[in-house]
Amino acid sequence: MTSKDAGSTSGSIKIGVLYSRSGVTSAAETAQLQATILAVEEINRAGGVLDREIELVCLDPQCQPRNYADLAEQLILKHRVRLIVGCYMSSTRKAVIPIVERHNALLFYATPYEGFEYSRNVIYTGAAPNQNTLPLAGFMLTHYGSRVSMIGSDYICPYESNRVMSDLILERGGEKLDETYLPLDARWESYLDVAKRIRQLSPDFIFSTVVGEGIPHLYRAFAHVGLDPYRMPIASHMTSEAEIAIMGNDVAEGHITSAAYFQTVDTAANRLAVARYQARFGDDQTTNMCWEAAYFQMHLLVDAIRRVGSDDPTLLLRVLPGLEYEAPQGRVRIDEYNNHTYLHPLIGRVNTQGRFDVIGRAPERVKADPYVVSHTTPRWTSEARPDLERTGGDR
Ligand code: ACM
Repeated sequence: MTSKDAGSTSGSIKIGVLYSRSGVTSAAETAQLQATILAVEEINRAGGVLDREIELVCLDPQCQPRNYADLAEQLILKHRVRLIVGCYMSSTRKAVIPIVERHNALLFYATPYEGFEYSRNVIYTGAAPNQNTLPLAGFMLTHYGSRVSMIGSDYICPYESNRVMSDLILERGGEKLDETYLPLDARWESYLDVAKRIRQLSPDFIFSTVVGEGIPHLYRAFAHVGLDPYRMPIASHMTSEAEIAIMGNDVAEGHITSAAYFQTVDTAANRLAVARYQARFGDDQTTNMCWEAAYFQMHLLVDAIRRVGSDDPTLLLRVLPGLEYEAPQGRVRIDEYNNHTYLHPLIGRVNTQGRFDVIGRAPERVKADPYVVSHTTPRWTSEARPDLERTGGDR
């Protein structure tokens, strides 16, 4: 590596951004992009870092894995960027990893994912499966039952998440009734067929790993065939405020999501971040788990740059492990060994306002276990009897 390659030393510090503004997951990715812009504006307003401004180089991969790879290479070779934030679907992250590894660049990935991965050149700030699938399994099997239907989008993250969920269900004597995958661009009619079949099977709950534009289709189809979320909810670790804003509060109410952050999280850091976000991007804007990880990871990255006095990825990787930040969800920490993040898992249920009421909460932050070495569901998901009857009645 030449000294020229080892990080720029004058002018602005450039950070590449790969979030899609069009395509199947663009609602969540647009929120991630705006969270990134918000964080950088906060940082620059406070004087930047190392007396330099942060400059974002934003490219739009339009939700196509090949574009993420090509644009990552373009960021590195043409724009001389070695720090990249972005990617949503795991297929897009997996397309970018060989590029960042080859060029010794660093990717910050702010989306919950299926685990079973480690790259020295990736910092994972979204939830790993032990921080979302595992608590969701514990909660649902305890409070709803163990006959489960699974519906997912047709790509890597849903396959792997369903494999983990299947193990957890079968280990506990439960039953997987069916497992269906629909293309990312499947139409409403396909979701309607799935909802009709689920009605016939009558599971205790539905585990959904549908992403992006398919999410509103699924929840609307579920409501259309008359299924009651308070008796048979959809449980997901991907459905967030971003998709609820599209499907409508009435359709979303009563369904359950496992995440490390909801807009309703009651911390001083969250109140401030949400207020600043809405002042900057509009009162109607909602935040979500991917928004929050995109926001706090930028602050973590800039703190690391400040500590080492450089934006050289090799130097940054010496201080990022163990680094902490007071995020909107609570204090987070990059793990010393696996490049994932200690997070604060929650279980939320959608209320009449389209926001999540927290009905399960980890008592302390949880270390990421991306390979799901432990299958023990956390005690908090089964001990507390949540107030399931408060807004609509339990089964
Ligand atoms: C995902 O593919 N990690 C949502």
